[in-house]
Amino acid sequence: MMKRISALLLALVMMLTMSGAVAETVTGTGTGTGYAGENAITVTVTLTDGVITAVTAEGSGETQGIGSKAIESLPAAIQQGNTWNVDVLGSATITSTGIIEATKAALANAGVNPDDYAAKAEAVKAEDATYEADVVIVGAGGAGMTAALTAAEAGKKVIILESQALVGGNTVKATGGMNAAKTAHQDNNTFGETAGLEKQLKAAEAYADNAAIADLTNKVTVQWNDYQANPVGYFDSVELMQLDTMIGGKGVNNPELVATMVNGTADAIDWLKTVNIDLHDVASFGGASVKRIHRPTNAEGKTVSVGAYMVPLMETACANNENITILLETTANTILTKDGAACGVVATGKTGETVTVNAKAVILATGGFGANLEMVAELKPELNGFMTTNAAGLLGQGIKMAEAIGAATVDMNQIQIHPTVQADTAALITEGLRGDGAILVNAEGKRFIDEVGTRDVVSAAEIAQTGSYSWLIVDDAMLQKSTVIQGYVKKGFVFTGNTYEELGAAIGVDGAALTETMNTWNGYVEAKNDPDFGRTSFANPLNTAPYYAIKVTAGIHHTMGGLQINTNTEVLDVNGNVIPGLFAAGEVTGGVHGANRLGGNAVADIVVFGRIAGAAAVEYAK
Ligand code: FUM
Repeated sequence: MMKRISALLLALVMMLTMSGAVAETVTGTGTGTGYAGENAITVTVTLTDGVITAVTAEGSGETQGIGSKAIESLPAAIQQGNTWNVDVLGSATITSTGIIEATKAALANAGVNPDDYAAKAEAVKAEDATYEADVVIVGAGGAGMTAALTAAEAGKKVIILESQALVGGNTVKATGGMNAAKTAHQDNNTFGETAGLEKQLKAAEAYADNAAIADLTNKVTVQWNDYQANPVGYFDSVELMQLDTMIGGKGVNNPELVATMVNGTADAIDWLKTVNIDLHDVASFGGASVKRIHRPTNAEGKTVSVGAYMVPLMETACANNENITILLETTANTILTKDGAACGVVATGKTGETVTVNAKAVILATGGFGANLEMVAELKPELNGFMTTNAAGLLGQGIKMAEAIGAATVDMNQIQIHPTVQADTAALITEGLRGDGAILVNAEGKRFIDEVGTRDVVSAAEIAQTGSYSWLIVDDAMLQKSTVIQGYVKKGFVFTGNTYEELGAAIGVDGAALTETMNTWNGYVEAKNDPDFGRTSFANPLNTAPYYAIKVTAGIHHTMGGLQINTNTEVLDVNGNVIPGLFAAGEVTGGVHGANRLGGNAVADIVVFGRIAGAAAVEYAK
């Protein structure tokens, strides 16, 4: 319909031109506030005889894969509808709103009244459509696209339904990286802090009655002793990553799912290279005994956000594969069944039309429900009123659809809060900064916890501080190595000072107290010993001016509960039986992460289980 309006308006312009009247063309440029700050977006609008005939937008500082998508797609919608009143892109609301603001300013600068361009273009309902596929996948985040690529590589015809206007789900927001055990990248790193391992073996003593943890502890102890006698490469093992994951999850995890995930990680790092995703930079992350998170870097060797890096590459790989079709803005609502087996999905398309996909196998990769604040509060009332880092589409639809055909769920009230969420915008401030050396101080300028502990522990300690927030402190040496921190500066999250005193003044924290904290911490880093909170991962002292602080607080980050699956990603019903033809992978499932997911294990989960789901669906669809 929008195309029709645009064509009619253009025809009108042409008729006026042909009738001899001289067409009046005017141009205006305006700016708007984007994710990268004030005036980060520039829009230029051209009008011919009062009709919008061209729109361009620029916003190179907007997040790749999210805001950049709005920059690409909204100008066409504005021109086609002859209106600034266009739909915002779900995960890119800030950039979309900035484009709209800039368009209004551009119209005013072109000498027309923006109010005359406020009427929303009327959408006409598209025809209902039915598709046939071998495999239908619900959700085009990391798990969905990985499953699709795996099934398509085996020659299967795959359709992915995505409720949002963009692919990527929560994956595109992932910042840290992917945990993987025993990779060549780890061995290529010559560092060898081991205090974290000894601390973990001690922590395991509290779980002596958990058979899986006890067994893993024994195995890791033997491996560690062997390694000390003959140290080759960097010390890690699949058993140690399982142990970290189980202790991080407080022993609530399903040990078989944990073992399946961990055993697949090193291979998954190699598979990702086949779609040009190279996660080679190894670092520390919360709850991991050793350096195990694998991250991407840019051409200058600076770390970049993993999700914004991975998602466009996965999207390109899907687009280049003729067996894969992605239907955006198509919200699945029912799983079709025949004789108890899943055989397709019914969805609602952008204009309200019904989209039916008949398929031999169904994979749910819809993510969790971290953006469904009502559902979160129902399941965990103490989280009522918390902000969320989640993408807009993470509403729990997959869980509800599967429950409607008898699927079982597990650990539904296990919902994770992340301690470093920017206090005004709910933007995730990656745990990677703490792994790379950042500290947290409270409103009194004092440290209060081992910053590289698990998220549940760090969040609880932060909530107990004055105002339930803290300041994350980094120095210029860290900033120079990280495009992620540089991005936070562009987004206006960062306060600066040339001395610790000055930084204290900038954030309203007592300068003398902050200086004392920083000097004490820098001494601990030199000594590789933190007598105050027992931190074991130190990186470098924070002594290169200027210094930077970001105000952070706890926000909802991950829902550990979800559909009950077996190690082949088959969804189980309430009696523990497999629902034939129904598979699930990623955050829509429960049991992998127990009571608390470790940072870096979400990307491991989506890639490993996405691949298993893709392969299992292929096998089933034979
Ligand atoms: O803090 C982070 O970068 C989050 C990573 C994760 O949740 O895995």
